[in-house]
Amino acid sequence: MRLTDKLLRPLTPRGWRSLRLGLRRMLHPLDWRDVHRTIDPVELEKVAARHRVPGEERRWPKYVDAEKWLPLNARRAQDLGLNRVPAAKRPLRVLDLGSGAGYFLLVCRHLGHTGVGLDTDDIPLYGEMFALLNLPREIARIEKFQPLPAAALLNKNGGQRFDLVTAFSIAFNGHKSPALWSTREWDFFLHDLKTHLLAPGGRVYLDLNPEHDGSFYTPELLAWFRARGGDIDRSKILLRP
Ligand SMILES: C[S@@+](CC[C@H](N)C(=O)[O-])C[C@H]1O[C@@H](n2cnc3c(N)ncnc32)[C@H](O)[C@@H]1O
Repeated sequence: MRLTDKLLRPLTPRGWRSLRLGLRRMLHPLDWRDVHRTIDPVELEKVAARHRVPGEERRWPKYVDAEKWLPLNARRAQDLGLNRVPAAKRPLRVLDLGSGAGYFLLVCRHLGHTGVGLDTDDIPLYGEMFALLNLPREIARIEKFQPLPAAALLNKNGGQRFDLVTAFSIAFNGHKSPALWSTREWDFFLHDLKTHLLAPGGRVYLDLNPEHDGSFYTPELLAWFRARGGDIDRSKILLRP
């Protein structure tokens, strides 16, 4: 990036947003090491040793390294303002879709919130991590035009609806395949969330993965999210359905 672009960056909408978020993180710090200390180090190393693949940076074994993934997840929680909500007064109920190794829910719990994960059981590492972290998880595969297992999810959440539904680095949307979700699939998915799982005033936070061409959405999908009031920052979309 040229020096002039760097200097002018805070004046662009994206630059201004990132400046605001950075300032907010400074004002409301969250040290991922405090979260790390809540994990039994001996048991964590046992799980990691079973699944570690040296040099693997792309596929799921990369998630064995808590020191690498907790900082990102602490930042996700900060950017969602989860460390500013006075959790003691108003703990949030979080549903994390495609919950992976559970790092985000662990940060949520550290902050006084509660959460449930949903994932397939394709990757044993994720199940072992949820067991180690003692976090609740529902095994299910998100499929286009199929409702989520609402009864089971609500049951794991004490019968309550969720204040926040998150999905980070999304792969359930036909990512990098010819079956990539269009507005129709997203419409069904969001309608299902709103009807069966979200509490009144609840938020949905989606973080898309880049497709083969580096894009996050087709122009049609981008316009569709915008028309639904989506607050969009590159891959990230915050909705209040
Ligand atoms: C790229 S990983 C992201 C994991 C985690 N959200 C994170 O950001 O660290 C994608 C996750 O989505 C899950 N996943 C993929 N397809 C899915 C589907 N159809 N239904 C539910 N989960 C799915 C994977 O098992 C994995 O946990």
